Amino acid sequence: METVQLVKPRRHLVVRGLWRYFVTGRPLWGKGDNATFLLDATTDYRGGPVERLSRARWRRVARRHAGVTAPLCLLAWDWRAAALYALLALVGVGGWLGYLVALWWPQRAVRRTYVYPAARVLAKVTGQKFRRRAALRDILLPAGYGEEPTEIPVVVFLPDIPLDAGTKRRVVEALGPRLGLPDATARWIEVGERIRVELLPQLLPPVSVRLADLMDELLAAPLAQPVVGVQGKGHVIHMDFNNDSPHTLGSAGSGAGKSTLYKFVAMQRLRHPNTYAIMLDFKKWSHLRWMGRLEPGRVLIEDEVPRIHEVLCRVLDELLWRKSFNLDQERELEALPTVDVYVEEINTLMSLLQEYWKAEVARRKSEARAMLRRAKDSEDEGLIEEAEEALAAANGLSATSPAIQALRYGVNLGREFRIHFHLIGQSMSAKAAGGRDTRESFRTRLLARWDAKTWKMLADGVPFIACPAGPTGIWAHVHGAEVEIVRVPFVADADAVAYVQGGPRPSLPMFHGDAIVAEVRPALDASASLRDLVPMLPAPGLGIDALRKAAQRPGFPAPVGTVVRGVAAEYSVAEVLAWFADRERMAIDAA
Ligand SMILES: Nc1ncnc2c1ncn2[C@@H]1O[C@H](COP(=O)(O)OP(=O)(O)O)[C@@H](O)[C@H]1O
Ligand SMILES: [Mg+2]
Repeated sequence: METVQLVKPRRHLVVRGLWRYFVTGRPLWGKGDNATFLLDATTDYRGGPVERLSRARWRRVARRHAGVTAPLCLLAWDWRAAALYALLALVGVGGWLGYLVALWWPQRAVRRTYVYPAARVLAKVTGQKFRRRAALRDILLPAGYGEEPTEIPVVVFLPDIPLDAGTKRRVVEALGPRLGLPDATARWIEVGERIRVELLPQLLPPVSVRLADLMDELLAAPLAQPVVGVQGKGHVIHMDFNNDSPHTLGSAGSGAGKSTLYKFVAMQRLRHPNTYAIMLDFKKWSHLRWMGRLEPGRVLIEDEVPRIHEVLCRVLDELLWRKSFNLDQERELEALPTVDVYVEEINTLMSLLQEYWKAEVARRKSEARAMLRRAKDSEDEGLIEEAEEALAAANGLSATSPAIQALRYGVNLGREFRIHFHLIGQSMSAKAAGGRDTRESFRTRLLARWDAKTWKMLADGVPFIACPAGPTGIWAHVHGAEVEIVRVPFVADADAVAYVQGGPRPSLPMFHGDAIVAEVRPALDASASLRDLVPMLPAPGLGIDALRKAAQRPGFPAPVGTVVRGVAAEYSVAEVLAWFADRERMAIDAA
């Protein structure tokens, strides 16, 4: 009697188990979830801390038949077929494991950077023991955390301990900084089996900032403290060229708002008396649409590598001149104009400058050798000596581009010289910034759409802050060990032009020894007749007759538009000035 009663339910369980295992796919024990044979689950009945939802049951059943029924049937039929089946299965499983490892590997860094350190401090606050498995189960980061901006909160499950207001505050204060969310906003969720807290960055800058709303702040800001943007709670944040660093680095991917940020900075700087901007942008169009419309003389825009090279050397020349001032000339030094040198797309430009210089050195050497050959042919002692000197000079040229040296040198000089460098690029590697030491000279660094790697590169020593999600224009203003997350207003080109034009015109030239408007490219698309061009040419200039003759020769820019008989032809002022600069350079080279 008794034995029958014991066996009956067991046999029943075995039959039910096999039925569920091979036919319906329902869980063998436990409540499971509401998945059906054809539909994925939407509700978990298990009530664990983490919801687990299974896929439609036909998948399970199919897997079991593939794993058990099929090999058994094959084995019964022919062992070789079963062996082939096993081999194929092995390959499939190997591939699948490889795929899982590939998914898991990048997670490792995230765990080590955020999850474990956060779990350790959490364990201290709650008095629990730190365990890796528990950490992974209890701290849930959104996918791609630290890689891209996110608006999904970090969720942390807490152990079952009494949580008063003080403990909750301590938990948030301890967790936030480890998770890249200092001063996080916390949302406590105490329904369900385990208490959890959702953390979101608090210092989110406003979603949009209008230039018009900032006007009073902009106009009141001193030259050395331009506004950089608006922080959460509406605080307006300024850069500080005197106390932080006179030079800035701007680093962000393409389309992240670099040119917009520097348009905002440059327009503020240009509004002040005796300030100039030099824009070195081989892509040409980053700032041309607004800077190109300022009155002639306010900015020097260069987009060709040889010209950029030359301008940087010119800036170095100016720096050295300014540096030669003595103590009794401090006043004169202070009165000199301020020059901001903006270098756009620095990553690419650095290599272009270096390549250009390499080619230039080769050219000068071969020219010097040709000169020496000619001199030897002429057997003129004086000429030979001169040519030998020229060759020695060419051989002695430095391998590093003098323009890059000028950048390095300039960046290391301080605010006393009133020449400020702003390096703008996609990734401010040490190479792009002119070397590791040079990069250290920039205490003011601006980052947009940063990830943990960029942060480590440019804000090392400052605890990581996750980049908040939101429309373009969110920047981290890192200065020394401090950082503010701000929104930069969008600035329309016309507004930037109008803002600058509201300020005074400079009364001193950009470079010493220049006349006020000399050698600065005039407004975009300006054209003029030859007669009008004569006074625009920088010293030593050309007379009208010489210019007319030159216009007949090849190499002179073509007239703009159609030429009508009896009406003076118009030429692009920019092109003629560039032609003149080339001609002057050739004359100097020949001399
Ligand atoms: N601060 C901002 N506010 C709103 N939109 C912006 C802002 N900065 C950039 N944008 C948008 O992003 C586009 C690309 O910006 P841009 O400054 O040219 O980027 P980058 O120079 O980094 O390639 C702009 O045309 C503008 O539409
Ligand atoms: Mg740009």
